Amino acid sequence: MTPNALNDQRSTFADYFSQVQATPGWDAILQSFARFASIPPASRVLDVGCGPGSLARTLVRAGHTVVGIDSDPLMIDRAQYLAQEERRPEFELGDVRHLRFADSSFDAALATNVLFLVPDPLVGLREMVRVARPGGMVAMLNPSSKMSVAAAEAHAAERGLDGVARVSLVNWGRAAEANRRFSADEARTLFSAAGLAQFESAEKIGPGLALFVRGVRGEER
Ligand SMILES: C[S@@+](CC[C@H](N)C(=O)[O-])C[C@H]1O[C@@H](n2cnc3c(N)ncnc32)[C@H](O)[C@@H]1O
Repeated sequence: MTPNALNDQRSTFADYFSQVQATPGWDAILQSFARFASIPPASRVLDVGCGPGSLARTLVRAGHTVVGIDSDPLMIDRAQYLAQEERRPEFELGDVRHLRFADSSFDAALATNVLFLVPDPLVGLREMVRVARPGGMVAMLNPSSKMSVAAAEAHAAERGLDGVARVSLVNWGRAAEANRRFSADEARTLFSAAGLAQFESAEKIGPGLALFVRGVRGEER
């Protein structure tokens, strides 16, 4: 593949994900996740793998200070373009496996639909825990063990979804099958290994296709 072809493909993914984040369904899921994360008012929040920045913008509107990072420069370009409000998130290039931030520099660290894509999610989660302050919240959203192409298709049919809403749900099922799905028990084990306590989880989206989990960084790691 030539560099230009690669660039075109990544541009398409950034465009595609901007459309996904603009669907009422995905926007509602990110808002539901933001409520689930229970972030204290006026927090400093890190959104890892922010994509085009929808969750980061939601959190800024809720009064938080937000830094969004993503490993794809075209996602960062898109996020910066879409953030036009006076108060806006900061967006920058970064990799969840090697965060440039100092220890304890955020009140909360979040990752929606990211850790199921990385080869070793514990490495990324440990980095998120490192940059969260003691007592800070770490939360993630991923496909649950119930997610699959067939389950996504069934849910889309039941809800009468079409267009981007349907295609993106089915693509999510495909990505989950190709990468990783989390049961609550697996997520609990992962959070414990990363030094997180007070684990809580919730299955969302229809029969529970998505798993929301959160935990609190202990005082000692
Ligand atoms: C499925 S999209 C999710 C975007 C957004 N968080 C959402 O839920 O709408 C996954 C995002 O994670 C980013 N990503 C993948 N691996 C990453 C890594 N190792 N570090 C940071 N971002 C990563 C991708 O570039 C992409 O923007």
